[in-house]
Amino acid sequence: SAIGRSVLSIIGAGSFAYYTVKDRLPQILTKVIDTIHRNKKKFFEEYGKEGVEAEKKAISIFSKLRNEMQTNKPILPLTDNCQDTDIWNQYLDYQKTLLGNGEDPSWFRSPWLYVECYLYRRIQEGMSFSPPISEYDVFRDVKNESFFQSQQAMMALCTHLQELKKTIASLSKEQRQEEFYRLLQVSLWGNKCDLSISGGQDNSQKSSILASLESLKSFILVNNMDSLWNTLTKGKDVGSENALKTRVDIVLDNAGFELVTDFILADAILFFNLATEVHFHGKCIPWFVSDTTKHDFDWTIQQFLAVNHKWMSKCGQTWKENLKKGSWVYHENLFWTLPHEFWSMEKIAPDLYTELKKSDLIFFKGDLNYRKLTGDRKWDFTVPFSQALKTFHPAPLCSIRTLKADIQVGLQAGIGERLSASDANWMVSGKYGVIQFS
Ligand code: F6P
Ligand code: MG
Repeated sequence: SAIGRSVLSIIGAGSFAYYTVKDRLPQILTKVIDTIHRNKKKFFEEYGKEGVEAEKKAISIFSKLRNEMQTNKPILPLTDNCQDTDIWNQYLDYQKTLLGNGEDPSWFRSPWLYVECYLYRRIQEGMSFSPPISEYDVFRDVKNESFFQSQQAMMALCTHLQELKKTIASLSKEQRQEEFYRLLQVSLWGNKCDLSISGGQDNSQKSSILASLESLKSFILVNNMDSLWNTLTKGKDVGSENALKTRVDIVLDNAGFELVTDFILADAILFFNLATEVHFHGKCIPWFVSDTTKHDFDWTIQQFLAVNHKWMSKCGQTWKENLKKGSWVYHENLFWTLPHEFWSMEKIAPDLYTELKKSDLIFFKGDLNYRKLTGDRKWDFTVPFSQALKTFHPAPLCSIRTLKADIQVGLQAGIGERLSASDANWMVSGKYGVIQFS
């Protein structure tokens, strides 16, 4: 493309991508190996000797994989026989044509987005070659642990939501708008808690986020909350029952605290009559350590129902009922765990694209979704978001993301340069965020 610095981010020494493949990903794999080993007893209890054999096999597969990565071996085609195996292997061929000269893509000579996604797909492949423990989610322990670490912060959010519900009748349109904005920001900062940026270490929300919102405001680099409010209230009398079917989609990111902030937002969207349906999109396989699978989604609601806290269990009940009534819907699609940019969705996953077209507003949570929305290109900071999306525009959409990868578009002139001069890590520290609409 002729636009800006629009080149593929091949992993350059010293870059955040380089650090990721050199340190962060091997660290994540080491944690996977430890986790499998720690569960040996459990596998034995469940499957007997076969379980222990499978544990050994998985560990040997992942040790080999770590070695491939650390010694910059070529990227290998997948050999399992899954629905997406061919698409992955075709993509590898395509990467080869991009490099040219017959060179094979290797762990450090490939686009960063691609190798990182590929690692998680290889973990999936490794587990599928290790029956009977193939269904075991190697990140489950760390996801659950981080959930429990964030419980105080979750309680505070649930209490806030229930209090809001009590006072709703007395709230003016402006006050409702303010509350909606508050919950959008909660969902934004919830995205700090992913377990991939921390190399699989605990990264939970320990204190209530609500009290910090005001002081965090200046870290929101693009804040299009007004456009969201206008999109959802256009032609509606806010506060009154909303007869027309309106649909909001949330393309989920991390389980744990972030997922709860998304549930709270989704709950409020229905409660404020900003939409009649919320559709969630999760991952089919364990992904980027903490991303939400169907199991995480259900497990989280189960935890809320079981906990001994009035407002948390009240939330759990509402969410369970929403799912039963069909005002909350959960979707899965293999496209979300492919390495492809979103502008190729229409071609690669036309069914998903058609589904998203039914939405009135799509939220894309998190950093990885942002990288895929913008094709992970090194765009100039001032390139408009709509331009970086290229042809991807199934419906009005919004990225809610803390910055954890060195890409950002749609900034006012000079802002990116000013931040670069004062804070070398501003794009990867998760300290800054965007609520960016197109
Ligand atoms: O490691 C790559 C990366 O995309 C980071 O930029 C980010 O830390 C993480 O993976 C995923 O973040 P998120 O959970 O917000 O998508
Ligand atoms: Mg994630």
